[in-house]
Parts: sequence; C-alpha cells; structure tokens
Amino acid sequence: MKYPNRLNLAILPTPLTPLEKFAVPNFDGKIWVKRDELTGTEVSGNKIRKLEFTIAHALDKGCDTLITCGGVQSNHCRATAILGARLGIKVHLILRGEKPEHPDGNLLMDYLVGAEISYLPELEWGSHVDLAHELLQQYQQQGSNSHFIPTGASDEIGLWGYIAASEELKNDFETNGISPNYIVTATGSGGTQGGLVVGAKLFDLSGQVVAFNVCDNAEYFDNKIREDVACWKHRYNMKLNEDDLEICTIEGYVGPGYGTADQEVFKTIAELARTEGLFLDPVYTGKAFHGMVTEIQKGVEGQLPGASNLVFVHTGGLFGVFPQQQNFRFD
Ligand SMILES: Cc1ncc(COP(=O)(O)O)c(C=O)c1O
Repeated sequence: MKYPNRLNLAILPTPLTPLEKFAVPNFDGKIWVKRDELTGTEVSGNKIRKLEFTIAHALDKGCDTLITCGGVQSNHCRATAILGARLGIKVHLILRGEKPEHPDGNLLMDYLVGAEISYLPELEWGSHVDLAHELLQQYQQQGSNSHFIPTGASDEIGLWGYIAASEELKNDFETNGISPNYIVTATGSGGTQGGLVVGAKLFDLSGQVVAFNVCDNAEYFDNKIREDVACWKHRYNMKLNEDDLEICTIEGYVGPGYGTADQEVFKTIAELARTEGLFLDPVYTGKAFHGMVTEIQKGVEGQLPGASNLVFVHTGGLFGVFPQQQNFRFD
C-alpha cells in the first residue's frame, strides 16, 4: 500500500492481547484487545494514528498553527495540543461548552501544553466551523499559516490512520494464527470505523467491522463514512466500490447522552480494571465494550450472532475517567 506522507509519532505496532480473566456469562469464545491505548503515554489512543497523516499534510502546506475542535474533554483536542507542543506548532482549540472553574482530565493537559482555547456555548455549537474559518482568517492577517482539522480528524486524510492500522491487524491475526469473526470499535466522529471498514476491504481482513455509536445514530455514520470515503477516493485517486463497504453500526448504547453513561457502563469499566488491569473510559470505550459484552450474551438473538473470536479495538480515553470519578461506586 502506498501511503501519503506520514509523521512517525505513535508507538507502533500496538500489541494484540487476549482477555484471560474477564468472564462473559455463557460465552466460551475469546475476546482479543488491540491495545491502541498504548500508542503513547500522553498522546495515547486512536487519534495519534490519524494525526500522523493529518499533521504531515498540514506541515507539507507550510502550516504553523493548527485549529481544531471538540468537547471540553476531547481526547482528539488533547492529542493535537500535545503534538503541537512537541512539534513546535501553535494549537488553537474550539471547545464546546463553558470554561470549568477547575480544568481536569484532558482539559488540564490542554492548558499545561499551552494550547489557546476558545469556548463556544453548547447552544451555539452549530457555528463552530464558522468560528474556525474566522480564526483561519485572523491568523492569516497576522502572517500565520493555519490549518483546520475537523472534529476527531475524521476526514479523507485522517481515514488513513485506521487503514494503516488494518494492515497492522492483518499481521497480528497472522502472527497469532486467528481468524476473528468481529472487529469491534467505538464510533464518535466516524474516522476510526471508516478507516477500519476501508482497511478491512483493502487487506481482506477476517471479521466484520462493527461499531457502537456513542452519539448520533447508524444512519449518520453510514452517510458520514460514505462521504469521507468518496473524498478519499477522489483526493488519492483510489479505486474502491463504495457499494461493497459494509458499514455496521450497532445502536442502543449511547445511554443518557454523549459523555454521560449509565451505572452498568461504570460497573463494566471497574470489572475489566479489576480482572485484567485494563482501563476503559465512560465516553467511548466503556460504552462500546459494555455494548459488545451485552450483545454477545444475547447469543443468536443479539447483534453479534455466532461471536467466537472478537477483537476489541481499545481506542484509549483514559484521561476521561478522572473527570467522572464521582460515578464509580466502591461499596
Ligand atoms: C477514546 C476514543 N475512542 C473512540 C473514539 C471514536 O473515534 P472516532 O472519532 O474516530 O469515531 C474517540 C473519539 O471520538 C475517542 O476519543
């Protein structure tokens, strides 16, 4: 595969390890974890895979400032802010909501690495791309060359991150001698799911890619991924029949809303931590893992029928645990 220009930022390849002690009632198959929470320490998780391509593209354009956006606890914004500090690029974040009195988790890290932050109230979030364009103009007037990265770096450039990860998975499956029947991920802005769906086709990966949405719905992700893939084909002159793409999003696990989880999710996070020493987060991976385990237990009636060997792509998010510490029960 001929990849576009890419920075070498993530610690790769990440391990693929089986769960040994976490028990799923009435299930005698195996769950493997693609340990993408180990792509780094501060810049851990899925975003760094996309940003290797996205920031390379921005630098090729002579960019000295990155503008991006997300929630106050955005993992993507934290990853971009830290990589900016490392690479000597200014980072300006547009965050959804109000400035908290005491920044913690990802936001604390954004401040520590010196990101410039503009807050946009929830009700005005619809205009965040307009604000990004205003900032692009302001930076241009000041003689800077800025580049806007969309939410989650999920566009035709960021798509390469999980296309490349699929090639890595292909090797992992061969090394471990496994042919999984499902590859499971959380989906929030669609780039990880989209990259895996395309990568699964390009590298003929064993297993169907299924994603648990933590916001929006299946129709949204279907449209978003097809749009990104169409732009990717156009920009890179790639041949792929979009009709062949199997985009499978399992609904029903958003819970009370984006960023807010039910008690079962917190219980699952605590159980995996206790049994395996693995940490999920309540915004993305906790919901997806909880959804996966729930669907496995439903057997043929569920949305993962015949599951025997599954690969859960652990996309990180650890720093999102701390701002939600009050939701864990220890009695
Ligand atoms: C920890 C974590 N997992 C999963 C996702 C979902 O990835 P994507 O935005 O590519 O859908 C995100 C970001 O949105 C994330 O921060």
